[in-house]
Amino acid sequence: MTTKPVLILGGTGKTGRRLAERLTARNIPVRIGSRAGTPPFDWLDKETWGRALEGVGAVYISYYPDIAVPGAAETVEAFARLAVERGVRRLALLSGRGEPEAQRAEEMLKASGADWSILRCAWFSQNFSEGFLIESILEGEVALPVGNVGEPFVDVDDIADVAATVLTEPGHIGQLYELTGPRLLSFADAVAEIGNAAGRDIRYRQISHAEFTEAVAAQNLPPEFAWLLDELFTKVLDGRNETLADGVQRALGRQPKDFSAYATETAASGVWSN
Ligand SMILES: NC(=O)c1ccc[n+]([C@@H]2O[C@H](COP(=O)([O-])OP(=O)(O)OC[C@H]3O[C@@H](n4cnc5c(N)ncnc54)[C@H](OP(=O)(O)O)[C@@H]3O)[C@@H](O)[C@H]2O)c1
Repeated sequence: MTTKPVLILGGTGKTGRRLAERLTARNIPVRIGSRAGTPPFDWLDKETWGRALEGVGAVYISYYPDIAVPGAAETVEAFARLAVERGVRRLALLSGRGEPEAQRAEEMLKASGADWSILRCAWFSQNFSEGFLIESILEGEVALPVGNVGEPFVDVDDIADVAATVLTEPGHIGQLYELTGPRLLSFADAVAEIGNAAGRDIRYRQISHAEFTEAVAAQNLPPEFAWLLDELFTKVLDGRNETLADGVQRALGRQPKDFSAYATETAASGVWSN
């Protein structure tokens, strides 16, 4: 019996790359869905979607740039409907917590006729090492308009483990897993843990919304990124996500990885040394 490949959208990104490694280790064929993939997949070019779906058995949907940007829900819905129409019913969506647009995308996936699973995730720990906060860490100061609110940062290794499990084992269709780490940390706590692990002096400074908007504008980012940073830092981090969830435990039967383990391992890799 041959196993059909799993199409991993965002297959070279933080979660997708790790999912590809895990499936490959289980001898499950993968097809990387990215603009550099074979065949290429581009969210902005619907013509590429059908070929990427040809012959696959399941899809991991990681939207780019972010499931919370306006229009993401409709695009994910259109993709899910095409997949179901082409006979690819098994879909797992990477989603975000406390984000109205993300929750809208989840509802649209559920209504698409797919055999769905949803991974609704907290902030990734790896935003500090593989995402947009690494430069601030290397510069020695993280300045954000966020006070003492607690966030249960989740490790992307745990997300990839859950994705690999739900896509290859029975019992996960129609399940929504809310994935968090085991502990609430403020951004100041997280930066302090990284500084300790890396043996470096890294400060956290809370800035005003106006200072933040000015700093973002100075970076000349594409408009959707500027909108997204504002949404994430000034709206979503208002305390609504200040709770732990048990998605990792439910899906994997084990505890999630703690932020301190992430900080120690990542410091040892050298990415925070400059
Ligand atoms: N970061 C967080 O804290 C957090 C929390 C909850 C949920 N999320 C969600 O996680 C998702 C991002 O997942 P991730 O961090 O694993 O990915 P990521 O590291 O941001 O990776 C980006 C991936 O998207 C691909 N890509 C870029 N532009 C594309 C396009 N136009 N069409 C198709 N693919 C494109 C890239 O490959 P190519 O460049 O080769 O195309 C790459 O594989 C977002 O939807 C976000 O909302 C993030």
